[in-house]
Amino acid sequence: GGEMNCLMVIFGATGDLTSRKLVPALYHLEVKELLPEAFGVVAVARKAYSTDQYLTHIRQKSEEHTHEIFEDAIWSKLANRFHYQPLEFDQEDQYGSLKKKLDTLEKKLESEGNRLFYMAVSPEYFGTIVQHLENQSLIDRKHGWQRMMIEKPFGRDAASARELNQTLRKVFEEEELFRIDHYLVKEMVQNLMTIRAANQIFEPTWNKDHIDHVQIVSAEMEGVGTRGAYYDQAGALRDMLQNHMLQMLALTAMEMPNFLTAEKLRAEKVRILRSLIPLAPETMENRLVLGQYEGYHNEPKVAPESTTETFAALKVFLDHPRWEGVPFFLITGKALAEKTAGIMIQYKLPMGSWSLRQTQQQLAPNRLIIQIQPQEGVVLTFNSKEPGTMDQLMTVNMDFCQNCLAGTNTPEAYEKLLLDAMKGDQSSFTHWDEVEASWIWIDHLTSWAAAHPEAVKSYPKGSQGPVYEERLKHASAWEEKEENQ
Ligand code: BG6
Repeated sequence: GGEMNCLMVIFGATGDLTSRKLVPALYHLEVKELLPEAFGVVAVARKAYSTDQYLTHIRQKSEEHTHEIFEDAIWSKLANRFHYQPLEFDQEDQYGSLKKKLDTLEKKLESEGNRLFYMAVSPEYFGTIVQHLENQSLIDRKHGWQRMMIEKPFGRDAASARELNQTLRKVFEEEELFRIDHYLVKEMVQNLMTIRAANQIFEPTWNKDHIDHVQIVSAEMEGVGTRGAYYDQAGALRDMLQNHMLQMLALTAMEMPNFLTAEKLRAEKVRILRSLIPLAPETMENRLVLGQYEGYHNEPKVAPESTTETFAALKVFLDHPRWEGVPFFLITGKALAEKTAGIMIQYKLPMGSWSLRQTQQQLAPNRLIIQIQPQEGVVLTFNSKEPGTMDQLMTVNMDFCQNCLAGTNTPEAYEKLLLDAMKGDQSSFTHWDEVEASWIWIDHLTSWAAAHPEAVKSYPKGSQGPVYEERLKHASAWEEKEENQ
């Protein structure tokens, strides 16, 4: 509809993100005919390309990255929407010609003055760009909505994140800022809310009385690849924990709002993020395990003596009546045995005479497993009588495979992100309050890690990471609870 009509302005249009994610997403939206009626793209970067040269270059790069050959007919439809504009980001006088281009295109397109800016540049330019946009009047609310999409990293600690946010907020309102966390648009992360809200069997038991512990995992097989310069300064705590892992924790632990509006949803997540209990230095040994894969030092642009963690496993508690004493295990790492992400809710063993009659060995706790990737689905394990026996138990799975559903085609994360931003739906983007609360909590861990480089244990590539179950008392989480209370 008309509300979504807009001109998208991509800063950093020759960069990796544009060819890996944005152009393929726009291409697929073109295939599915989901782009708004009046929609144009202004690709902005330093290189002195013509629009045709740019399009040849970006098509080739995108096809290489996605291993997909774009269909000529669709590509030419998309290509027709593109206009290239060379610009040195720090040269304010060059923003005048960009403005003229936007004004002219908008008249032609009838895109109602709506502008969707996208920062696909290194964060050091965010401030410069938004300031020049403002000074040269490229942000024009009289004519239509003005929105800004921002990639991670959003700072490297609470202080730098605040500074970045202030820079952005000088020019844009919170409602105009779309901070990306691509985990929030993963199909099964979204489904987590549906599963909780739409099934009476889960929500009433979703608490400390019935749940023993929660485990949230995102494991990768890849190492840091070509991102050494960034990653070596970040590490797993900043790169994965602060954003994706804590967001999954927040969605799992939050109170379900009656209406899933962006405002209510994000307010509930903030409450959880603020209730994260800091890990006391004397308990670190049994709360935090850090690792680095062997050979990490040989990766391009990684410091030879680097103690950056490429793996982190944590045991976390919330200061929250619903979750008192319930450990949340967060596990993430690179160069591990498999690529997998999921959330596992482990229930307590049933109480009463029935369970007492059984040996512990026979009775397994119920588990609700939300598989995020590569498979998408839900598994529920439960105990059942073994056929033909008196009271022998067996543990079986109810297994729902979401990506097996005929005719479903899970949209790529960036397709949904772009459409949501065009619609003005902020549900799958992070509010500043969430970012701030996450950083405040992560800061105490990164400072501890910086002061304890010896805590980072080496692990072989393709393994499960450093040994953590024993240290975190992971397998027997329910036995440890007494200690905790
Ligand atoms: C990014 C991190 O945010 O998420 C990367 O910067 C990581 O280091 C990636 O590889 C993982 O995303 P996904 O969707 O592949 O699980």
